[in-house]
Amino acid sequence: MSVVDFDLSEREFWAKPMSERERAFDRLRARETPAFFEEMEISYAPKGPGYYALVKHADILEASRTPEVFSSGDGGATNIPDMQPEFAEYFGSMINMDDPRHARLRRIVSRAFTPKMIRQFEADVEVAAARVVDDLLAKGAGCDFVTEVASRLPLKIICDMMGIPESEYQFVLGHTNLILGGFDPEYAGPDLDELPERLLRAAMELQQLVQDLASHRADNPTGDLISSLVNANLDGERLTLQELGSFFILLVVAGNETTRNAISYGLRLLTKNPDQRALWLEDFEGRAPGAVEEIVRLAAPVNFMRRKATRDHEMNGHLYRKGDKVVLFYWAANRDASVFDDPYRFDITRSPNPHVGFGGPGPHFCLGAHLARREITVMFRELLRRVPAIEAGRPDRLQSSFINGIKHMECSF
Ligand code: HEM
Repeated sequence: MSVVDFDLSEREFWAKPMSERERAFDRLRARETPAFFEEMEISYAPKGPGYYALVKHADILEASRTPEVFSSGDGGATNIPDMQPEFAEYFGSMINMDDPRHARLRRIVSRAFTPKMIRQFEADVEVAAARVVDDLLAKGAGCDFVTEVASRLPLKIICDMMGIPESEYQFVLGHTNLILGGFDPEYAGPDLDELPERLLRAAMELQQLVQDLASHRADNPTGDLISSLVNANLDGERLTLQELGSFFILLVVAGNETTRNAISYGLRLLTKNPDQRALWLEDFEGRAPGAVEEIVRLAAPVNFMRRKATRDHEMNGHLYRKGDKVVLFYWAANRDASVFDDPYRFDITRSPNPHVGFGGPGPHFCLGAHLARREITVMFRELLRRVPAIEAGRPDRLQSSFINGIKHMECSF
């Protein structure tokens, strides 16, 4: 049924050069109505009915703000095939739920993520970022920016929030890399048929870690997030152990696998656009909010989320039938020329900048957006202040349709 000559469901598509991806999505956006794609054949679930690719900003806005029609809960939002029951135990957290279950969980956990709370550990973020840059300077030469700089700050912050000791950092990072590693052989291994089993094992091990921490915190609360989630809050609400396990997996995965890609793409964008670097350096604090939004717009570390229509519904001239799947391609909507002038240009002064990198307006808007913005700001403040000439080499991109990731990237200064 698809009338374009490329296929978003082919793994090879996501390994093509970025310029080809850009052309393909430009063509999809130029169409009157969304293109339909068959689903990929996978070993662990029956082939699904296919999906419409939403690539226009207007479609993503409307689908996001109409959750009663476009459900996250019916089969999941983080995957195109419906989530199989054995995965739901570990990955069936609030991002893959609809209200009222979603709203209850979000209410319990959201207190930890308000701007006020984030400001409270601003100093910790600064100390952590300073240490990363100390190590970079101590090395005195180039390095792999992703593993030695960009990934370290989000890892430390999310682990600190959860009260995970430093001895477990590499265990956590290895597991989240596998969970969001897509079909990249570096993380998924050579045999994709074994991937579902490895994913489940990784999830089970992360759940074990949080349950060990939780049973300790139940008797010895320390003020970290796990302590507050296992002990009832003011309204007497608390998470069950299963909810805690899947929420923990969602948070460590979302905390690690998104912001580090924004930081890596950010350095790449600044390297390719020295005028924008100079502009930011002229007035770092004044221009930081705009620069961070522009980095997230172009990096769009989360490429898509999926929804399923709960009933027949017309949206922007297309009739969706009950049960139709739609995939919201944020990366593509962030390049919609009807909303963003000269959309491929990196412009840290772009205003307004209504990008959907953190999701569209609606109940699932990124819970970690304030935290991510803080981390990106503080990391670039340290880098541009102390290593202003740092430059990124060519990125080694993750092979994934879900995460726009950079696995490795040389840097020099
Ligand atoms: C640049 C970094 C980040 C990007 C681009 C990003 C992107 C997104 C997107 C697109 C969604 C929307 C999901 C939907 O509508 O279905 C989302 C939701 C979410 N994000 Fe983020 N995220 C980032 C950082 C973080 C961080 C640091 C955390 C936590 C530590 C986090 C936690 C979450 C959670 C828990 C949700 C689910 C919210 C809900 O379902 O109510 N994110 N994120």
